[in-house]
Amino acid sequence: MRLERPSLNWEAEHLAYMKEWDEDRIKPSSFHWPDGIPYEAYLEHLATREVGQGGRMPNTNYFLVDDDERIIGMVNIRHGLNDYLRMVDGHIGYSIRPSEQRKGYATYLLSEALKVTDQLGIRSVLVTCNEDNIGSAAVILKNGGVEDESFTEPHGNIVRRFWIKR
Ligand SMILES: CC(C)(COP(=O)(O)OP(=O)(O)OC[C@H]1O[C@@H](n2cnc3c(N)ncnc32)[C@H](O)[C@@H]1OP(=O)(O)O)[C@@H](O)C(=O)NCCC(=O)NCCS
Repeated sequence: MRLERPSLNWEAEHLAYMKEWDEDRIKPSSFHWPDGIPYEAYLEHLATREVGQGGRMPNTNYFLVDDDERIIGMVNIRHGLNDYLRMVDGHIGYSIRPSEQRKGYATYLLSEALKVTDQLGIRSVLVTCNEDNIGSAAVILKNGGVEDESFTEPHGNIVRRFWIKR
């Protein structure tokens, strides 16, 4: 298993990953490749988001790829926190394709993402999940997450917030 940066090589695999999510908007949202947009244009847009254009926090995206060159998961790593990220989204967002869930991949993916935040010099990593996301909370706890106060969004959604000290 390895992390790979998005590139033209992954077009077919990215599409296959998205198809497993039905109508659900894919997570993390940076991997939402809108219908009808050429992959090259999507990648260009992703690159502008990564460098922080439009007031976005600079961030990096990776696919988790297995030895059969199949995308198993996706992760978006934010290089810092702003007011919104500090309360809602944290430093790291991830998903595992539905057909590969509950095999330990998210636990592994978060551990690999933490090596990236180490390289970025982030010593306290914030990882969050919705209150009803039992799987994600387990993944965070397995990676050393210590729970902080929850945050209730204006529409009532409760976000659990965990710090991972490095
Ligand atoms: C949450 C998610 C990333 C978990 O991925 P995963 O690869 O299935 O997680 P793991 O296999 O590493 O599971 C870690 C632990 O959580 C448990 N778990 C995972 N999904 C679970 C679920 N739906 N219900 C209860 N427990 C669950 C596993 O059993 C495991 O515990 P164990 O080792 O004690 O058995 C995956 O379900 C997903 O992609 N969901 C949609 C996107 C999302 O919610 N992302 C997180 C928010 S950014």
